[in-house]
Amino acid sequence: MNILHVSIECYPIAKVGGLADVVGALPKYQNSLGHNAGVIIPFHDNKFTEEAELIKIHKGTLQLGEDLHSYSIKKLVNPDLGFIVYMVHIPRLLDRTMVYGHPDEIERFIAFQKAVLDWISLEKNIPDIVHCHDHHTGLIPFMMTHADQYTALRNIPTIFTIHNAQYQGQLSYDKLYYLPQFDHKKIGLLDWDHRINPLATGVKNAWKVTTVSPNYMKELQERANGLERLLRDESKKCVGILNGIDTETWNPETDPMLIKNYKLSTLVSGRKANKKWLCDNFDLSIEKPLFAFIGRLVNEKGADLLAEIIAESLSNTDINILILGSGNQQIEEKLRSLRERFIDRYHVHIGYDEQLSHIIYSGADFLLMPSRVEPCGLNQMYALRYGTIPIVRRTGGLKDTVVDIGDGGFGICHDQALVWDVCYSIKRAIALFDDQSAYKRLQRQIMKIDHSWHRSAQEYLDLYNSLIQLK
Ligand code: ADP
Ligand code: GLC
Repeated sequence: MNILHVSIECYPIAKVGGLADVVGALPKYQNSLGHNAGVIIPFHDNKFTEEAELIKIHKGTLQLGEDLHSYSIKKLVNPDLGFIVYMVHIPRLLDRTMVYGHPDEIERFIAFQKAVLDWISLEKNIPDIVHCHDHHTGLIPFMMTHADQYTALRNIPTIFTIHNAQYQGQLSYDKLYYLPQFDHKKIGLLDWDHRINPLATGVKNAWKVTTVSPNYMKELQERANGLERLLRDESKKCVGILNGIDTETWNPETDPMLIKNYKLSTLVSGRKANKKWLCDNFDLSIEKPLFAFIGRLVNEKGADLLAEIIAESLSNTDINILILGSGNQQIEEKLRSLRERFIDRYHVHIGYDEQLSHIIYSGADFLLMPSRVEPCGLNQMYALRYGTIPIVRRTGGLKDTVVDIGDGGFGICHDQALVWDVCYSIKRAIALFDDQSAYKRLQRQIMKIDHSWHRSAQEYLDLYNSLIQLK
């Protein structure tokens, strides 16, 4: 089967969060099951593309309102990633360093989607399945079915995966002229609340809709940032498939980003070396349990609670806390300002640092995830694989992947995204840490949990097959 994944992010080329990790791993596992899965992303102007060898395989033009853009499709040569990568290069529109946050985001995403379709509709090698990820690609299923220009693509099954329904990419109808010609009787298929809503469009028009954990699929019917009614109405074509992790990239035994590699039998000494590096570099002390948070500093992740959690916990208990993240400036500022108060027990690193994140997963004792919304969450699965015990709010995919020690499980869970709840979980974690033999037993247990993509990659393939049979 020829599968084309369409996404804005893809690890290791361009990563902001978990979307990149998923798109950078799922096709590899699909290929290992005997298929031909590739990825198409924008050409981002960054270190990876600067150093990569790319060949131009197609040139074309696309109309975006009154502007005519030339675009090219570049193919990554010998990427050694386990899948083919194509990049849409649109000079001055797509080739930027930052993935998101540009004022012309609407133009960028629509131009990207049109270029993808323009290219594949002219290609001899049309994919059997087009798999779109998140709202940036949500107009594709509509354009493939209803735009006059892409009739060649009408019968290709489309899958739309919601990685996060908080972001929907809405635009007003004055931008409708960016879309290609289509039968205007179909305009309702673009609409939600009198706006063009690319996430809703993806849900309405894709042949099948998936999200990244079974529990988030259920939650979306009650809470989907305004789209809950749509998700209830479309529930028959929706399914939750739990994300996996790339166990080759994320392997403590071989991970080149770690200070010291380790496996089950060398867990204690290996993790100690990584913890020591963290403590030396962030002025923390190695004897105390180290609690960490890694992620986007936004309310969705419960990051606005962190400052209070830190102040409360460090006033009442003797632990270390390390934060790695960036996002909301007020949250960043609050976290920075706490440093002075707890100089030898708390550190924050504002920014994005892939290597540091790996060292934290391998050196921290506990990982905090007080998320309000967590469609799947990969951090807890990385933590498990590296022997760090996750402390999570029971929501979305966190509920599907972490079971509380009190229920015979291996993590610490709480129900509310509240400071009090998290602080209580921290106290439970300290009690666990104090019983070193139980703590180490648990670390061994979590490192053995298999969250690799094998099962879920097959679930996607089964879904694709069921659609191909409908054609
Ligand atoms: P989301 O996609 O909502 O941000 P996920 O848990 O799915 O959450 O994935 C987050 C990914 O981004 C993980 O690979 C995590 O390690 C990484 N990450 C998040 N913030 C940072 C950061 N500041 N530095 C390095 N890696 C980060
Ligand atoms: C989104 C979600 C996150 C999920 C990731 C990958 O960014 O916020 O929970 O793990 O996508 O699917």
